[in-house]
Amino acid sequence: MTSVTPEGIEAILFDADEISKAVARLAGAIARDYATDPSVLLVGVLKGALFFTADLARALPPSLDPRIDFLAVTSYGNASRSSGEVRLLKDMSESIEGKHVLIVEDIVDNGLTLSYLQDLLGRRHPASLRSCVLLDKPYRRRVDAKVDYTGLVCPDTFVVGYGLDYQEKYRNLPYLAKLEPWVFAGEVE
Ligand code: PRP
Repeated sequence: MTSVTPEGIEAILFDADEISKAVARLAGAIARDYATDPSVLLVGVLKGALFFTADLARALPPSLDPRIDFLAVTSYGNASRSSGEVRLLKDMSESIEGKHVLIVEDIVDNGLTLSYLQDLLGRRHPASLRSCVLLDKPYRRRVDAKVDYTGLVCPDTFVVGYGLDYQEKYRNLPYLAKLEPWVFAGEVE
């Protein structure tokens, strides 16, 4: 099968195999840490963490008995820069009181989204609250957001694929990629 790179993709940063290995490493670390606290509740952050949550859940040993829920937040809208304001679009469907909660995020960049979620969920009295992030972009942090599990350190560039989008495009790509600069050319500073 031939694969065609979509228009606007400059380079692949992490291919499907590298992503899969990172997910397996994360799952191993989580399985060890939660061995005595089974029934961890994975909280996937939509839309970006859609595929990561699904793959991480399947990489965990069944003995961990993970549960899965989702919430949706946004701060980037259609732009490549955060608006600085995180909005909750969809809340979880179950209570987290007394549960071991693991926030599953695709990427942490300025940190506002993860920090917002840690505050929001922390106030709901979980038994524990940790975070697992596939991609860490440590270069432009605006707030301190504690990351317990990090998959890959990302170059300081706008990344798409494997759930991450630009103007809702590219989420379906099986790899993580850098965009060509012309894609952002129409954005107003
Ligand atoms: C992206 C990404 C993270 C967040 C990280 O979400 O999925 O949730 O931004 O950025 P930050 O650390 O700078 O806050 P986005 O708001 O683009 O929504 P989406 O997941 O629906 O694409």
